[in-house]
Amino acid sequence: MEEVKNVPRHVAIIMDGNGRWAKARKMPRSYGHIQGAKTVEQICEDAYNMGIEYLTVYAFSTENWSRPDDEVSQLMTLLRNYMKTCIQRASKNNMKVRVIGDKTRLDDDIQKSIADLEEATKDYTGLKFTIAINYGSRDEIRRAVTDIAGKVKEGIIDPSDIDEEMISDALDTSGYPDPDLLVRTCGELRISNFLLWQISYSEIYVTDVAWPDFDKEQLRLACEAYAKRTRRFGKVLEEE
Ligand code: IPE
Ligand code: IPE
Ligand code: MG
Repeated sequence: MEEVKNVPRHVAIIMDGNGRWAKARKMPRSYGHIQGAKTVEQICEDAYNMGIEYLTVYAFSTENWSRPDDEVSQLMTLLRNYMKTCIQRASKNNMKVRVIGDKTRLDDDIQKSIADLEEATKDYTGLKFTIAINYGSRDEIRRAVTDIAGKVKEGIIDPSDIDEEMISDALDTSGYPDPDLLVRTCGELRISNFLLWQISYSEIYVTDVAWPDFDKEQLRLACEAYAKRTRRFGKVLEEE
């Protein structure tokens, strides 16, 4: 495989289409989620081998609680198992794992597995892998604003101290660079409440391929499309 040039440092993925993928195979939606979880494992390795430093994936949104109870519980079972087995994989791949989103709504044992996983992998220097669970960008911003307002109330900061950096630092993604490339699988042209603040200047790539079929080749295509983009950040470039 040809080496990809100008690889995005941080790729964020809206992993969509598990249900449609399963339906096309006359299988239950849960089968799509199981296959989707396998894709996550493989793509972490592929991303790192390609030179991507940060990978952030959207696994469960604040809005996904409104799915049928049995689907929510299947997704939680899958996440529960994933968190448990991720420690070994992360150690093998030197992967640092972080979970963003409001963890307090998750079952206690899942919260404990997440804490164990983050602690066990915190010094690893390979891929920085972030999983968004019970994540909604508006909820994240609400929590950040509450946090900052609390500091104002206590007199720790003045409202005039609030700058963009302070807001970024109050978000779940603090300390990590913004995504360079946002990928959405299975064709929908929307953001679905993912990283609204952080993707201000991300390049967007949408593929019709459903998440369970997203592989190294698909990732390479997304990175190649990214490499051809001209990022202006509002400026006029000299060559233009
Ligand atoms: C993405 O696949 C996984 C989650 C949102 C948890 P979907 O379950 O949304 O699959 P489609 O979009 O219905 O095909
Ligand atoms: C976005 O997919 C959320 C995740 C991938 C976890 P959805 O399937 O929930 O998004 P909508 O409902 O099509 O916008
Ligand atoms: Mg969907």
